[in-house]
Amino acid sequence: MSTSKPVLLSGIQPSGQLTLGNYIGAIRNWVDLQADYDCIFLLVDLHAITVRQDPAVLRQRCRDFLSLYIACGIDPEKNLLCAQSHVAGHSQLAWILDCYTMVGELNRMTQFKDKSAKHADNINAGLYNYPVLMAADILIYDTQLVPVGNDQKQHLELARDVAQRFNFAHKEEVFRIPEPFIPPVGARIMGLQNPEAKMSKSDDNEGNGIYLLDEPKKIAKKIKRAVTDSGSEVRAADDKPGVTNLLNIMAAVTGRSIEDLEADYGDSGYGRFKGDVADAVVAFMEPMQARYRALQDDPAYLDGILARSAEQAN
Ligand code: TRP
Repeated sequence: MSTSKPVLLSGIQPSGQLTLGNYIGAIRNWVDLQADYDCIFLLVDLHAITVRQDPAVLRQRCRDFLSLYIACGIDPEKNLLCAQSHVAGHSQLAWILDCYTMVGELNRMTQFKDKSAKHADNINAGLYNYPVLMAADILIYDTQLVPVGNDQKQHLELARDVAQRFNFAHKEEVFRIPEPFIPPVGARIMGLQNPEAKMSKSDDNEGNGIYLLDEPKKIAKKIKRAVTDSGSEVRAADDKPGVTNLLNIMAAVTGRSIEDLEADYGDSGYGRFKGDVADAVVAFMEPMQARYRALQDDPAYLDGILARSAEQAN
């Protein structure tokens, strides 16, 4: 990593399974950003233990996510690909920032409320302090830009507030105030069964998401079963969320425009369209999955990347 470019940092929890939505909505953008920014991609395993984890499974999932990032085109030579727990500074700074974070602020975090409701039997202090550790992740690297989805905007706001409070208290510009990074365009990919909500990597309904490691046959089956809307026209429209979502998916994996796809499929019915979406997604995923499998055969290489990144980050 050079130090002349602005630092961009993103974190992802090694939990659940990465989806095509994660790729289209986030990972694909990162691939384009590596030229212009010093990027740090953190596997936030310490955030993951706010819910119970099996240590061996979590460790393996970090490797799995790392291989998927690389298979998707993230260059481990150009970027830091770190496990959060390998860099002690994150936890150390989190404690200091805890002392500059107000309980009232944490009480307002909507994700804490949502997660508490979901894990009512394990509302631990880590879940409560989660945004402070995230602030530490960001602030420790003088990060300028943080790509954040809607669900993380409030947490980034908090990181900015805490940094400003610290700087003000000590009359010194100790922390750089990070900005949200709004990625160029990129469609939001929705669930196949429920196209009203984002495709999620931790969804109980397996048929709702296309996972980056799904076998081709499974992908085709899921797409054929995707809910479509009434009528039979292949057209993007607010009252056609299912078809619109499939159009967005196909546009993303083929590089074709929505208009072009509409012109091609307009009246030919959902059957042919879905068959072609499935073929296009599979054609896109197969080479990526092959790269993933090759990396999985070499755990020492993966552990080496994590070790080297952690050393640089430290
Ligand atoms: N909290 C983020 C999420 O749940 C993950 C995360 C941890 C993160 N640290 C971060 C995101 C720092 C951006 C920057 O998705």
